[in-house]
Amino acid sequence: MKVFGDHRWEKFFAVRSWGKYPPEETIRFFMRAKNKINRTPLHVLDIGCGMGASSWMMAKEGGKVTAFDGAPSGLAGVNKNAREFSVAEKIETVLGDITRPDAHLSQSYDIMVDQYSVYANPENMVIAAYGEYFHLLKPAGQFLICGFGYGTTGWDGGRRVSEHSVADIKEGVMRDTGTVSLFSLEQLKSILSSIGFQIEYWEQIVENRNGLCVDKHVIAVSKPHK
Ligand SMILES: C[S@@+](CC[C@H](N)C(=O)[O-])C[C@H]1O[C@@H](n2cnc3c(N)ncnc32)[C@H](O)[C@@H]1O
Repeated sequence: MKVFGDHRWEKFFAVRSWGKYPPEETIRFFMRAKNKINRTPLHVLDIGCGMGASSWMMAKEGGKVTAFDGAPSGLAGVNKNAREFSVAEKIETVLGDITRPDAHLSQSYDIMVDQYSVYANPENMVIAAYGEYFHLLKPAGQFLICGFGYGTTGWDGGRRVSEHSVADIKEGVMRDTGTVSLFSLEQLKSILSSIGFQIEYWEQIVENRNGLCVDKHVIAVSKPHK
């Protein structure tokens, strides 16, 4: 089966069951977004879903979820995880390149979640991808973007491939995951605003895990009403 994105993700999911539970920032975002939109069916896109750590939660909370990823072994875990959590409705899975959503998806969504996924690509592809996701989001739709900031251990030991992109990181949460892109919160907010998104709120969550720092950048945006 074809693999999209860095092939290391496919190998990773094939040997390890990783990513079963959603992080707090996604739960917080989803419950707020769902209340704000307040309609059914609620079409939800989980971008770079991996094994569906958040897909099942969003389905359980009433979303009609499409789980989108380039790793077949990750996608294979999505409905398995959902069944384990007694989610009745089947989650649609789409295999493809998450930096080129227009090539793989044709419908529009009320809610979209990029839970630490799009960042794992070169910066020009990251920025172009957010432009395509803007068109896939319904007016008044809500979009969560999670990535890592420059406080994260390891990025400065990697190989700089462009202004915001680094490859071959050897330490920390971004190690051995191919080319990743890091932005300051201000830079990312400015990129998203220039695409047309409205900033709803942002969070910086700094975790110290045994001395290794994880600097999580979380931005919730919406698409203005027509
Ligand atoms: C850090 S994992 C996050 C997975 C999931 N969102 C979670 O939090 O458990 C990044 C995911 O993005 C996917 N990904 C990254 N770049 C991709 C690309 N260009 N095309 C398809 N999938 C990609 C990987 O396959 C992987 O599943």
